Amino acid sequence: MLEVFSLKKKVALVTGGGSGLGRAMSLALCDAGAEVIVTGRRINKLENVVEEIKVKGGNSFSLALDVQDETSIKNCLDEVKSKKKNIDILINNSGISGPSWAVEQKVEDWDAVINTNLRGTFLMCREVGKTMIKRKKGVIVNVSSVAGMIGIQKLAAYSSSKGGIIQLTKTLSQEWAKYGIRINALAPGYFLTEINKDYFSTESGKKMIENHIPLNRIGVDSELSGAIVFLASDASSFMTGSTLVIDGGQSSL
Ligand SMILES: NC(=O)c1ccc[n+]([C@@H]2O[C@H](COP(=O)([O-])OP(=O)(O)OC[C@H]3O[C@@H](n4cnc5c(N)ncnc54)[C@H](OP(=O)(O)O)[C@@H]3O)[C@@H](O)[C@H]2O)c1
Repeated sequence: MLEVFSLKKKVALVTGGGSGLGRAMSLALCDAGAEVIVTGRRINKLENVVEEIKVKGGNSFSLALDVQDETSIKNCLDEVKSKKKNIDILINNSGISGPSWAVEQKVEDWDAVINTNLRGTFLMCREVGKTMIKRKKGVIVNVSSVAGMIGIQKLAAYSSSKGGIIQLTKTLSQEWAKYGIRINALAPGYFLTEINKDYFSTESGKKMIENHIPLNRIGVDSELSGAIVFLASDASSFMTGSTLVIDGGQSSL
């Protein structure tokens, strides 16, 4: 039965794979047997993850990628092609949050969030989708957020981008099912990463957890490993256009 979770002989490209949840997902995909292309802007971070994968005995290489920049996307995908690799699995994980009260939000900060999270996800889907359509197969996972499903103060741009990702995922699943491409979204709740770890140790961070997360804690990145392998593998072969929520119960309140 566990064979359906295997990613042996598959090539996965992870955006924003050099840190946080992207790093964890890259390692999980490697554990399931995939070769992992780790992408993002900070090359040293990417190289560290490639090294971690190699230490595990997996195959991996890194490529520079800025999802806000169409030329960078083209260069990255040309590089994949020149290495004679086909992307079987695309994980659109890159994201920024840009928190601000809506009334104070600068338009350039709004644009940066939307352009990275929503436009970047769209561009990656469109460009990798072209090859998947030709090959008549492929799996895409778009990383949304619980913030894309519920309202969270100070996250107007982020919530809008993440809600948009869920709608983009549904639409592409309709357009591309006939080509054998499955596309789903993953909506994590709060997970401990470098960026938020200070906040969650403050009094207001602790109160937020107590009031908003029924399981009364935030997630740790290994708690996404099973989900990403499930979504990337044949274990989810009858699933497309869906959003898998992993949030300790936050969105059920
Ligand atoms: N942690 C949570 O609680 C949580 C909850 C729900 C959803 N998420 C989502 O999970 C994803 C990963 O977040 P994280 O918490 O792991 O934070 P993170 O460590 O900051 O990861 C974000 C990644 O996105 C990459 N990135 C940012 N801008 C980019 C760009 N223009 N082009 C390419 N890559 C870019 C960053 O790499 P470079 O800077 O090197 O490019 C970084 O590796 C995000 O989409 C986030 O919204 C996180």
